[in-house]
Amino acid sequence: MKVVRTKSELRAALEPFRAGRVGLVPTMGAFHEGHLALLRAARRDCGTVVCSLFVNPTQFGQSEDLERYPRSGARDRELARAEGVDFLFAPAPEEMYPPGFETWVEPERLALELEGVIRPTHFRGVATICLKLFNIVRPNVAYFGSKDAQQLAVIERIVRDLDLELEIHPVETVRDSDGLALSSRNSYLSPAERRIALALPRALALGAKAKRDGGDPVAAARTALDEEPGLKTQYVATRDYSGPRVLAAVQVGQTRLIDNVSLKGSKR
Ligand code: PAJ
Repeated sequence: MKVVRTKSELRAALEPFRAGRVGLVPTMGAFHEGHLALLRAARRDCGTVVCSLFVNPTQFGQSEDLERYPRSGARDRELARAEGVDFLFAPAPEEMYPPGFETWVEPERLALELEGVIRPTHFRGVATICLKLFNIVRPNVAYFGSKDAQQLAVIERIVRDLDLELEIHPVETVRDSDGLALSSRNSYLSPAERRIALALPRALALGAKAKRDGGDPVAAARTALDEEPGLKTQYVATRDYSGPRVLAAVQVGQTRLIDNVSLKGSKR
């Protein structure tokens, strides 16, 4: 595995591999089994696997956790190497946003609902960095987790709207044995907060069950979340993001958590 810090070095390094299939896994590091599932899917399908590791400042709001976002470069390097990544692209912020940077990708409706209501500039940052990564790496396929279902939908929309020549490959959410979706932000939770956070996957599972039983998934999930006084519910909703899903965001102490489950196969 080669660790690459600059765009020009990465472009040059990829040149000999263009005849084969190039896969890109964009990440912000602090790897867990969710990230590793994306890397494994890429390794299975592609001759060359590029993983980007960049804590993208432009997708964090003013009062958000950019400064304290978990960073574990040495550990991430070892994990990426063990998964057979060919190129780990870990640029400095100035490499991606040089002085004078002023061009943005602004997804509209899809980026302004749910997460977009609470984080109004978030998807503009995600969309911009992902388009930049797509242009630098020029992958045949890029891998994204369904854990961030709205992000995945925004990326699929950009590919369609801007005529990008790449495939987006979704990867199902990886969960801990207790049901909590793996997230780099889970490391912020105290043991007591983690117990409270379990209400989130439980509520979404109840939502999916309600749907299967012919009931209202949003009402069922909301009722279950309301029964946990330790958390604040920010939204519960259903959307068709490459298939029907029930999605929710909650705040546990200082930590925001999002999760969703598929409603596919559930009765209408
Ligand atoms: P990050 O939160 O590091 O996530 C990187 C990728 O891993 C995303 O596609 C995300 O959906 C996926 N992922 C996270 N948790 C997962 C889980 N439990 N199961 C399966 N996949 C999971 O998402 C981002 O970074 C950034 O917004 C990024 C796309 C890199 C742009 O900066």
